[in-house]
Amino acid sequence: MTVAEIFETMDYGPAPESSAEAMAWIDGHDGRFGLFVDGTFTEPGSSFDTRNPATGKTLAQVTQATPEDVTAAVAAARKAQPGWEKLGGPGRARILYALARIIQKQSRLFAVLETLDSGKPIREARDIDVSLVARHFYYHAGMAQIMEDELPGARALGVCGQVIPWNFPLLMLAWKVAPALAMGNTVVLKPAEWTPLTALAFADLAREAGLPKGVLNIVTGDGAVGEAVVGADVDKVAFTGSTEVGKAIRRATAGSGKALTLELGGKSPFIVFDDADLDSAVEGIVDAIWFNGGQVCCAGSRLIVQEGIAEDFHDRLRTRMAKLRVGDPLDKCIDMGAIVDPVQRDRIAAMVDGTTGQVHRGDAPEGCFYPPTLITGLDPADPLMQDEIFGPVLVGTTFRTPAEAVSLANNTRYGLAATVWTENVNLALDIAPKLASGIVWVNGTNMMDAAAGFGGVRESGFGREGGWEGLRAYVKGPEGKALKPVAPVAAPKEAKVTGLDRTAKLYVGGKQARPDGGYSRAVWSPKGALLGHVGLANRKDLRNAVEAARGAGAWSKTTGHQRAQILYYIGENLSARAGEFAARISDMTGATAKQAETEVAASVGRLFTWAAWADKYDGRAKGVPIRGVALAMNEPVGVIGQFAPDEMPLLGLVSVIAPAMAMGNRTVTVASTAFPLAATDFYQVLETSDVPGGVVNILTGDANELAAQMGGHMDVDSVWSFSSSDISATIEAESAHNLKRTWVNNGRARDWSVTDAHTFLAQATEVKTVWIPYGE
Ligand code: NAI
Repeated sequence: MTVAEIFETMDYGPAPESSAEAMAWIDGHDGRFGLFVDGTFTEPGSSFDTRNPATGKTLAQVTQATPEDVTAAVAAARKAQPGWEKLGGPGRARILYALARIIQKQSRLFAVLETLDSGKPIREARDIDVSLVARHFYYHAGMAQIMEDELPGARALGVCGQVIPWNFPLLMLAWKVAPALAMGNTVVLKPAEWTPLTALAFADLAREAGLPKGVLNIVTGDGAVGEAVVGADVDKVAFTGSTEVGKAIRRATAGSGKALTLELGGKSPFIVFDDADLDSAVEGIVDAIWFNGGQVCCAGSRLIVQEGIAEDFHDRLRTRMAKLRVGDPLDKCIDMGAIVDPVQRDRIAAMVDGTTGQVHRGDAPEGCFYPPTLITGLDPADPLMQDEIFGPVLVGTTFRTPAEAVSLANNTRYGLAATVWTENVNLALDIAPKLASGIVWVNGTNMMDAAAGFGGVRESGFGREGGWEGLRAYVKGPEGKALKPVAPVAAPKEAKVTGLDRTAKLYVGGKQARPDGGYSRAVWSPKGALLGHVGLANRKDLRNAVEAARGAGAWSKTTGHQRAQILYYIGENLSARAGEFAARISDMTGATAKQAETEVAASVGRLFTWAAWADKYDGRAKGVPIRGVALAMNEPVGVIGQFAPDEMPLLGLVSVIAPAMAMGNRTVTVASTAFPLAATDFYQVLETSDVPGGVVNILTGDANELAAQMGGHMDVDSVWSFSSSDISATIEAESAHNLKRTWVNNGRARDWSVTDAHTFLAQATEVKTVWIPYGE
């Protein structure tokens, strides 16, 4: 067809991008790639093909790294790390800046290579992936530049092992590598087996930016190589991929002391209210589920539309689907390219085939393509409504009231992103806080930026990428010394029993409760005096406590001002009983009167500090380079299970309960195993301080007995452990059940005389990024 004819008919004419430069780069490496280790490519080893999914043709051969290769890459990164960190923020910033410039200068090469290897439309690779990659390096060059001023005392973690998926190969590399390098870490990265080429090209070209050797190492291969990276001598593991593998990684790293962030799957709701601009919402759907063929972790894959407009909306959607052009990804006019691999295409087909819903499909060519698909009329419990399809398949249902929309949206084990479409600003901003997700987009979707935190809650993983909150995953504070286990004082040969029998109960739902199992234990002073008895909580008590905490949800909705008043009041009441608490500390621990008084005074001070913070941990408004603003809203995590420290039993207890309360969480707190009476006395203070029932629940017993249960409990959102019992590994391994956040001491002591407010604040909150239209 000639151009003149196209003008005549206004018909579609293909506009293919040339692949010559990208193929020349591959040919320049003889079509075979080794690994990139210590600044150079190794000799290619046992290899596998990477193919263009649109044509099925082999693009290159890539090495399957051996465990020894991974060890060598980690050793190179380890060797390079001190020098890279010592270069200082501004020194690293210059190199990150140079990397950003290289991405821009070679943008077409990267875009075409990405399209060839992944099948995504060149329009997306060029305008979205590669431009966001450059933005990410620029942004983090800036973070390196100002790190020393803005994050005083922050140190690099060391070597980071990073494993990424195939849906945004270069962009995921940027999300992982840029913040890690900015903060002075070095990296061993494993790209996905289907899409290794842009990572190799990046490493190749990074040499031109003056990146010192060993700072960035790329090991290619399948999941076994990923496993080797996770198991290697790295200080941090960052993973993006499936929830299943995320859980395996959580288990594999449990107790290792390795920092971990997981960015996993989703089944993100896309809610359309009846007052929405329907045509713009239809375009939103195109971006939500047909962008990158729906192979997007935050894809708006569940359409939840208000009943009155559902028919009209589905009609408009079907009309739009008919106009989507699926085909050669190198064609600049293509809306949807190939599915990344025939395996993935078959996986999508297998999930959809046989569905009982009403299926509407667009067109797609033969081969590794899948048509845009809409399925309506499904029950909310249908597997297609619950499971991640990771393809261009939208499933839909309807709702009547905003409350029902929220409940349908949250009816998922995931919590990555959500979209709300309405012309009513009150409605949008009423719904946004109610959605269980790390990201909410209002009248827009799939928006991402280096400044805006990205990441989920629930089984979508934990940790954020991007923004200030993302940096937290790549720095550490001072490390504590090894903790000496503290055991309860053993029963003396000659017991001194005086006064009336005193048995402290558990504290659940604002009431004192007898332990379910009917077991207690005596608490002795080092001088042999019986101080009282405490109940031994079992799994049923823990379950009751979690239920009580879950039921106290109103606490999370109270204002910071209100929470501050209550924390001040607790401080006031503790202060009134200071002498009694000091005597108890001395009796239990053998501390001198002076030491005990100091601990009580510090505890009152700590309560005042957290009362002060309750209404001051503000979020941020992120300036993002699109029309809008991304609000970083600090929300409570929910129910936090806590194992209180044994050292400084009162100050430690207050230091873990108060920040959680201040940020609107409810706690199930297991008292120090050795010195539990500080906690049972403390709940009497809570009882007289207007703390609503269920906000703080206190269990006594053996931390070892309760760790697995707390770690694995499906209705606990996070577990903190500062116990001197060896329970960190158990908690982390068990947490894989629902992928709750964990914060454990790994046997290291913390200095409880220091507030360390920012660490506690971050651990006590979940950042929700809410994108709203703003400005012109
Ligand atoms: P995957 O989670 O298996 O692969 C992601 C990365 O992890 C790849 O680099 C892979 O080699 C590596 N890997 C695999 N097993 C590993 C292990 N045991 N230890 C360490 N690394 C390991 O994802 P896959 O199989 O490619 O896709 C399966 C499904 O996962 C998709 O259909 C989709 O539902 C979901 N998925 C979600 C992604 C997201 O961004 N949330 C990305 C990719 C897949």
